[in-house]
Amino acid sequence: MPDLALAADDPRLQRLLEVAVQAPSADNHHHWKLRCSADALELALAADLRQMAQTRRLLTLISLGAVAESLCVEATALGWRLLPELDLGNPAVPVRLRLAPGAVEPDPLAGAALRQRHSNRELRFTGPALDVAQQSVLSLGLGVVPGTQLGWHDGKPQRRALLALLRAAETERFANPALHQELFEAVRFDLGWSQGATEGLAPASLGVAPWERPGFSSSRHWGLQKFLNLIGMHKMLGARAADLPCRLAPHVCSIAATGSVEQGAFSAGRALLRVWAAANANGLAVSVYAAAPLYALVGATDVRADLQQRLQAGWRELSPGATPFMVLRLGHAAAPKVRNGRPPAASFLLN
Ligand SMILES: Cc1cc2nc3c(=O)[nH]c(=O)nc-3n(C[C@H](O)[C@H](O)[C@H](O)COP(=O)(O)O)c2cc1C
Repeated sequence: MPDLALAADDPRLQRLLEVAVQAPSADNHHHWKLRCSADALELALAADLRQMAQTRRLLTLISLGAVAESLCVEATALGWRLLPELDLGNPAVPVRLRLAPGAVEPDPLAGAALRQRHSNRELRFTGPALDVAQQSVLSLGLGVVPGTQLGWHDGKPQRRALLALLRAAETERFANPALHQELFEAVRFDLGWSQGATEGLAPASLGVAPWERPGFSSSRHWGLQKFLNLIGMHKMLGARAADLPCRLAPHVCSIAATGSVEQGAFSAGRALLRVWAAANANGLAVSVYAAAPLYALVGATDVRADLQQRLQAGWRELSPGATPFMVLRLGHAAAPKVRNGRPPAASFLLN
């Protein structure tokens, strides 16, 4: 078996690191580092998973799942089969990608698909819609991630039900001071409206139209937001954030997983990476929404009990038997003018 204790300047390690840093991550924050040992790659965290509030912990696990899957996919192009394992007993190094013996076929997502994957938050995604065979290809792509499934919610009643959940969750982000703070903390208003961010979310990447920008910028001030909520501003922003874009899109899906909530979040992150990269590679635009599924989970941070119960009841109908972790919007759209970047790949290496 090959030795995975690669030197920092080994082109194979640089190739793996490059795709790993391109993985999607909550708020474009990156808290992991890669460590190499003879028989495994490991993902280490600066913060202790056990100390994180529930929603942050799950966002971190989904993000780690996406990084882990990127590494597994790219490793196949090097002839290596990596098996990702989540070890919550080791909260500082929770992910281990063990090298397994035997030959492996290169994954079609290796290379360009991983590098080109990105968020597109344009308001309007257009058709043509995918046919059943194309939808099946995306769903079947999750076969390599045990316990995960892609739910399509395009039928009228399902879409109506999902839009109601998205609207309720996104509205809460503008109505609840703790969630509002978390939402706007991630936005890099210091960058203006023309450049991307290597860390955090550039305003220009958020799909906010020029005429909406003054209102969106002002909303970051909780005092003003609270005042404007008296005339329903939170409801308007909640509808604009997810309901309207998902209403206009040809497809809305959810990724759900079975098992414990932590293992499910990690597996859902792996599945997310696969669907997203495959969709982009097939010319589809993708944007994702985490609030509606994550606010429904028991222990969700700072979420009102009545909202949580409403979300739980809705998801029980839409995703019976598996816990949803992410909503995806799919369709066709112009490429985003501004995309968020990443810190240098070398800074993700733990020596
Ligand atoms: C766990 C997780 C949660 C996310 N939640 C949202 C979300 O609620 N809304 C959104 O617009 N993007 C969301 N994203 C997308 C990230 O913001 C995006 O991946 C990140 O900014 C990097 O940009 P890129 O996808 O263009 O590479 C999420 C991504 C992950 C992995």
